[in-house]
Amino acid sequence: MTRELHVATDIDEIKLKLARREAEQQRLTNLEFRLADIVEDELENFDFVQARFVLTHLLNQQKALEKMWEAIHPGGILAIEDIDFRGHFCHPECAAFSRYVELYTKTAQRRGADPNIGPRLPGLLIKARFEAVQIKVVQLVAMSGESKLMAPLTMETIADSVLAEGLASRAEVDRLIHDLYEFARDPDTVVSGPRVVQTWGHRPRS
Ligand SMILES: C[S@@+](CC[C@H](N)C(=O)[O-])C[C@H]1O[C@@H](n2cnc3c(N)ncnc32)[C@H](O)[C@@H]1O
Repeated sequence: MTRELHVATDIDEIKLKLARREAEQQRLTNLEFRLADIVEDELENFDFVQARFVLTHLLNQQKALEKMWEAIHPGGILAIEDIDFRGHFCHPECAAFSRYVELYTKTAQRRGADPNIGPRLPGLLIKARFEAVQIKVVQLVAMSGESKLMAPLTMETIADSVLAEGLASRAEVDRLIHDLYEFARDPDTVVSGPRVVQTWGHRPRS
């Protein structure tokens, strides 16, 4: 019996280390983790390639799709999942949340990334010659638990970049982080993740 091999890649060795540890804990043995740049490095032929929440960060998404085309054998499938930050919502309205969405969007755009890439994905796949391209929208939404903390945690992560871009003061960033945690801890509030667009297509057989 042949054993399927799954290869997971990232450009950051720290992320790979964390993923390797999690795979060990879950006793997943048919997984190999490799350091690779999705835009530059070659990969061998796979039946199925998936990239989640990576293209949003790239300056050259089309080149990444060309590399993935080369990594998929004819007839194989590509699946991309990525964000549309415009669909990030909460209830009730919250000034700190709106400002967080604005700061994330502006910081990413100033750095050449696309925080709203989701709806562009099918067109990018078609341009890269994939066929039978399809699209679906999914969205995480929470009233409690860890996923409700995504906004304050992300605000903490992007704080230095926001400051470096001169988009807010340290005092404002600290206040936003505080207000976002308060909002998330309130059991009466609802917080979504960004809208997520899933798109997939085939590399033609010939
Ligand atoms: C938001 S995380 C998503 C991680 C994972 N794919 C997931 O779905 O949970 C974005 C990841 O993209 C990786 N990344 C950014 N640029 C990359 C590139 N050029 N090649 C490969 N990985 C890259 C980062 O190191 C980071 O781990």
